[in-house]
Amino acid sequence: MRLNVPLTGADELDAVRTVLESGYLTQGPRAAEFEKGITAVTTSAHGYAVSSATTGLHLTLVALGVEAGDEVIMPAFSFPATANAVAQQGAVPVFVDIRPDTFNIDPALIEAAITPRTRAIMPVHAFGLTADMDAVNEVARRHGLPVIEDAACALGATYHGRAAGSLATAGVFSFHPRKIITTGEGGMITTDDTALAERLQVLRTHGAVRGDLFMEFVDVGFNYRMSDVHAAIGLAQLTKLDWILERRRSLAASLSERVSAIDGVHAPVTPQGLEHSFQSYVVTLDPSIDRDGVIRRMREHDVETTLGTYGMHLQPVFVERFGSQEAALPAATAAHRQALTLPLYPQLTDGDLDTVAEALTASVS
Ligand SMILES: Cc1ncc(COP(=O)(O)O)c(C=O)c1O
Repeated sequence: MRLNVPLTGADELDAVRTVLESGYLTQGPRAAEFEKGITAVTTSAHGYAVSSATTGLHLTLVALGVEAGDEVIMPAFSFPATANAVAQQGAVPVFVDIRPDTFNIDPALIEAAITPRTRAIMPVHAFGLTADMDAVNEVARRHGLPVIEDAACALGATYHGRAAGSLATAGVFSFHPRKIITTGEGGMITTDDTALAERLQVLRTHGAVRGDLFMEFVDVGFNYRMSDVHAAIGLAQLTKLDWILERRRSLAASLSERVSAIDGVHAPVTPQGLEHSFQSYVVTLDPSIDRDGVIRRMREHDVETTLGTYGMHLQPVFVERFGSQEAALPAATAAHRQALTLPLYPQLTDGDLDTVAEALTASVS
């Protein structure tokens, strides 16, 4: 059993064929329509379709004026693209520890990480569970800092009735095939901030402003656009979003019933008032269990699993640049070693969940 299988078929093929036949291959009407579709889900005023969440995070940092030597606060436990986007700007990712129960940034630790060089706070909605955004926004407000949601995994997640992507200055989503919906590669920036939106628009397309006859270049911009070919796939996927979310949530509940019965295995937690998107279903194993051994044994049972995500502070690039921070980040370090992602995607059946639970029971003992 694979860890994830993207849900693509005839609808996506037809959508791509239509774009190819139209002759309009770069960013155009399909991308605009996809932006509308995503901002309807996130209740945001503006949406910008980009080539990935990584380029979306980078573009947002640039648009907010983050420069070399600045600092951006983020949880230590995330896919390293979160920190790469900051380091690409010559800025410093400042790692803050996570809460062991939710895998999300611990808001109580943010204030101590703020310095005169801090330019932004970038919480990550780990595996599709929103960070404690009221608490994060409160610290940010006291210090006059913008907040960027790394919502790569969180399309459709909510925080006390409000949508991921609408909870801060800007939100950034990913449409990589392992995410809630896919465009192949792709991303989206959402924001209600009109001034930021204008900067994003210009910087996404070469720093250009469109005139009557041709463009004028007013900034050192990028080509970070999502093409209409990709957007068409996203539009076909979007029609299935409600069903995908419902299915992921119900499968996650069923899997939790099964894995909670296994000694030393802890099912993911969803705090009251939050709706998880379950982009990934991640359990924590007791410290006495060798997580990597479990991954290998699960493979022998033909069930693909992987680590939760990365302790970014443990990755060689960030150790070399910023030194060892392991002692200051115990929860992220433990999550890096003991978290385990199990297969979860809409096509799975109850029988598949039984197979996963049986393989896990055999693999942890
Ligand atoms: C939390 C997080 N941020 C950013 C990214 C980067 O997304 P993309 O592959 O669209 O650049 C990912 C992808 O796995 C992610 O999980």
